[in-house]
Amino acid sequence: MTFLDLEDSVAPSEKEAARAKVAKAVRELDWGDRVLCVRVNAWDTRFTYGDVIEVVSQAGERLDEVMLPKVQSADQVVALDLLLSQVEANSALEHGHIGIEAQIETTRGLINVEEICAASPRLETIVFGPADFAASMEMPVLTGGIQVPEYPGDHFHYVFSKILMAGRANGLQVIDGPYLKVRDPDGLRDYCQRTRILGYDGKWALHPDQVTIINELFSPTQEQFDRALHILDAYEEATEGEGKGAVMFGDEMIDEASRKIALKFVTRGERAGLRRSAG
Ligand code: GLV
Ligand code: MG
Repeated sequence: MTFLDLEDSVAPSEKEAARAKVAKAVRELDWGDRVLCVRVNAWDTRFTYGDVIEVVSQAGERLDEVMLPKVQSADQVVALDLLLSQVEANSALEHGHIGIEAQIETTRGLINVEEICAASPRLETIVFGPADFAASMEMPVLTGGIQVPEYPGDHFHYVFSKILMAGRANGLQVIDGPYLKVRDPDGLRDYCQRTRILGYDGKWALHPDQVTIINELFSPTQEQFDRALHILDAYEEATEGEGKGAVMFGDEMIDEASRKIALKFVTRGERAGLRRSAG
C-alpha cells in the first residue's frame, strides 16, 4: 500500500494547492496493482471536506482508500463515510468503492478506539500514529515512536495491544505507524519486533530503505512457513483421516487453535511470495 499525504507533511500554505497535485499523481503515475490511498486532513481543520471532494472526484477511479488522521470518535468516521457516499454518487463511482483507513493518534482516539473500529463498513485498516500520540500524551520525548531506554519496558505496550484488539475484533488490518529515525535500521528492526510479535500486520515505511526491513520482519521465514504447512497437513490427516481433534505433532499437541495459527502464517507467507520447500 502506498499513501500520498495532504496532512502533516504538507505546509499549511500549500494545503489547497497540494490537492490537485496529489489527484494528478494518483491518475497519471503508474502504480501497478498496489493499493493506493490519500491521507486527508483531520476534521479539526478546515480542509477535510475539500480534500475529499477534490481528490475523490478527480482521481477516485484509481484511488482505493482515504486515510483519516487523528480520529477522535466514531462519528468522525461516519461523517467521512457519508461524504464519500455523496462524492461517489456524483463521480459515477460504485457505492463503497473508497475504503477508509483510520489513524489512532490522540488520547481521545485511543479511548474511543473500540467504537471507531466498528463505525463503518468502509473501514479496512486501523493505524497507530506514534508521533502525534506522544504529543497528545505530552510525553517528555522529542521523537515519538522510538525506544525510550529509560523506561523499564515498552512505553507503548498498552496502546499497541488496545488498538490491535479493537481492530481484530472488527476484522480490520492493524498497522503500526512511522519510525522517524530513517537512518537507524537496527532501531527500526527492534521496533518492528514489538508490534510483529503482538500480531500487527505491518508498519509504515517513510523511506525505501525501511521497506525491505519491514517486509522481511512482518513476513514469516521459510522455516516457519514450511512448519505451518506441515501442521496443517498433520491436522487435516488427524481430523479427516483418523477422526481425531487433537494429536501429537513431534513433541507438541496440536488442535483446532494450532490450525488457525498455522493458517495465518501460510496466508502471510503466500502474500510475501513464499512457496513450500521441496522435500
Ligand atoms: C503519524 O501520523 C504519526 O503521527 O506518528
Ligand atoms: Mg500523525
